[in-house]
Amino acid sequence: IGCDIMKIAVAGTGYVGLVTAVCLAEKGHNVTCVDINQDKIDLMKQGISPIYEQGLQDLMLKNKESLIYTSDYVEAYKNAEVIFIGVGTPENKSGSANLEFVNEVAIQIAHTIEENCVIVVKSTVPVGTNDKIEQLIIENLKNDVSISVVSNPEFLSQGTAIKDTLYAKRMVLGVESKHAEMIMKKVYDPFNIPYVVTDRRSAEMIKYASNDFLALKISYINEIANLCEIVDANIEDVVQGMGMDPRIGGQFLNAGIGYGGSCFPKDTKALHWLANFNDYEIKTIKATIEVNENQKIKLIKKARKYYDSFNNLEVAILGLTFKPGTDDLREAPSLVNIPILLEDGANVRVWDPVGADNFRKNFSTQVRYCQSIEEAITNADLCFIFTEWPEVKQFDISNYSKLMNCPIVIDGRNCYSLESAEEAGIVYDSIGRKK
Ligand code: UGA
Repeated sequence: IGCDIMKIAVAGTGYVGLVTAVCLAEKGHNVTCVDINQDKIDLMKQGISPIYEQGLQDLMLKNKESLIYTSDYVEAYKNAEVIFIGVGTPENKSGSANLEFVNEVAIQIAHTIEENCVIVVKSTVPVGTNDKIEQLIIENLKNDVSISVVSNPEFLSQGTAIKDTLYAKRMVLGVESKHAEMIMKKVYDPFNIPYVVTDRRSAEMIKYASNDFLALKISYINEIANLCEIVDANIEDVVQGMGMDPRIGGQFLNAGIGYGGSCFPKDTKALHWLANFNDYEIKTIKATIEVNENQKIKLIKKARKYYDSFNNLEVAILGLTFKPGTDDLREAPSLVNIPILLEDGANVRVWDPVGADNFRKNFSTQVRYCQSIEEAITNADLCFIFTEWPEVKQFDISNYSKLMNCPIVIDGRNCYSLESAEEAGIVYDSIGRKK
């Protein structure tokens, strides 16, 4: 059976919006990407992805016939059968989610659509928001059309976003009508992914509950790792033993210096806020957040065992981004740690294969940017590893003792085995392992 080609618009060309759009085009649909940022639109029109994401640019080029990029939302929305909302929901000061951009798009949709339409919310929004969006659109409709809003949360990870979307483990559809469910299945049947069909509020909750559970898993294993250090156990062996129990599962049990990125920090705080707002305290998530904040500065605490002060020390930083495979720095441990080092008088040199440009926007001249790991560590008194880039993991560990002034390597991502560190003759302090 051939698939129904749908006319789709996607609002927002960040990770969620652009990846969704490109994958929908890959499955045969006609997709118009809308963004208010004209610079981004111009780049995409030239076939250039405004974000670093493996495979994205290739897929943009491959499907260029079925992808349109525009800042003219009127053109994009007026005859669309389905409109996806994939704009950001950053964190408010209170920890709640900022819905300004989502609401703005909703009003634009209401003002422009000329055909019956299904509006799909991909952005992560607090439980109950989809109901409000539907209300907002209905109240502002300019034409006599009928709409329904569907909650369709996104589960992609940065770095593996294309694969996560094309081969997702589940497709959650929060619908309030059979018609909306039928349209969504027309959109997604070509993906051949198992559906979870539920109401909108449960769909919204599935997203938070999933992300926060993963964050909880990380904070939990980080605490176990901290205890391993105290009682002389080895976190990697502990995780191996735990992970073979399918009820636990081996994934997302890498101990380190905490989770960062645009999702876990924001989504844990948003759920905590939502609970508080409803006079409930979600204790596990409160603890998850607290543990993560401490974990982020763990390496500095470790380093103080070797140096009372960092004043005038040459300090090398390997990895700036919140995880490998992305140029994203949001909530990255590097952003908390580097200011502490600078404040203390350290001379900081940094290396990151793709994150340096984004970092430069925050710290400009205060650090030295290096083109290679060798350059960063040469004559350094101390080296911190914040991101487990493959280049770091594959780096010949004997170089630290050859090139550093004083070979102290403090590794927040357990990139090397203890044996290799011992062989290389370096002082190697990592997470949850014996020294
Ligand atoms: C996360 C979720 O994994 C996605 O399923 C979700 O769709 C996405 O948020 C979102 O809400 O949009 P992402 O933020 O891209 O994806 O990154 P992850 O790979 O989940 O990593 C998050 C952080 O946790 C990173 O800082 C990583 O270093 C850390 N982490 C991850 C650990 O410290 N240990 C682990 O075992 C795994």
